[in-house]
Amino acid sequence: MTNEWDDLADWWREELETDPTYVEVVVPLLLAMLDTRTGTVLDVGCGNGRIMGELALAGLEPVGCDINGSLLAEAATFGPVMRVELPGLPIRQASIDGAVLVLSFEHLENEIFSELARVIRPGGWLAAVANHPFITAPGSASIIDPTDGEVFWRPGTYLDPGSSIEDANGQPVTFLHRPIGEFLTTAAKAEFSLSELREVPFEPGGLPDAGLPRLIGVRWTRQ
Ligand SMILES: C[S@@+](CC[C@H](N)C(=O)[O-])C[C@H]1O[C@@H](n2cnc3c(N)ncnc32)[C@H](O)[C@@H]1O
Repeated sequence: MTNEWDDLADWWREELETDPTYVEVVVPLLLAMLDTRTGTVLDVGCGNGRIMGELALAGLEPVGCDINGSLLAEAATFGPVMRVELPGLPIRQASIDGAVLVLSFEHLENEIFSELARVIRPGGWLAAVANHPFITAPGSASIIDPTDGEVFWRPGTYLDPGSSIEDANGQPVTFLHRPIGEFLTTAAKAEFSLSELREVPFEPGGLPDAGLPRLIGVRWTRQ
């Protein structure tokens, strides 16, 4: 079982360690999206388990899954883990209370919704924190005016689903782009009803105007 993520463990560890946004924005947004009333939560694309640690602190029982064996070995510190190639999950129907997708949604095809709808019990929940579709649109990028250093944002092709490739220490990593309407409709068809959606602005520091979305946080309820 291999895919491009097998070679990306070091890149992701470096991203986590060097990006203060993860601690300052990603984790608080996830915590705001959680339903902490219920027990077993699957961390989908758990990486090295950092979020599993946050789930345990919130009183939940995390179970991790990922394709990357090296990251999973670290994640095992925080709870049970399983090696999977998503979207397929070797889990019984309606056997978990909730699931989280943290910066993994943008790497997974839409089938992830129907598979999670299968394994989450009715009344359970799904929380996601992802790069906002505003910035995953192919061609979107910041542009710096060389005359005065002012930063602008080029929106790219927001309305067309697609993907872009980023360089991760010389390895390509694919980011899928879904306009908001597309993934909300896919989730609704898989019997997830929208409970809350938050759009979080760009962090300060070299990026354009506050008020442009950087991350999206969503909580759904499994009907
Ligand atoms: C950007 S990392 C996020 C990791 C973790 N959620 C966190 O916030 O630290 C994306 C993770 O998704 C996993 N992943 C990507 N595609 C996958 C697939 N098809 N099956 C299983 N895991 C996958 C990668 O191995 C990686 O650990």
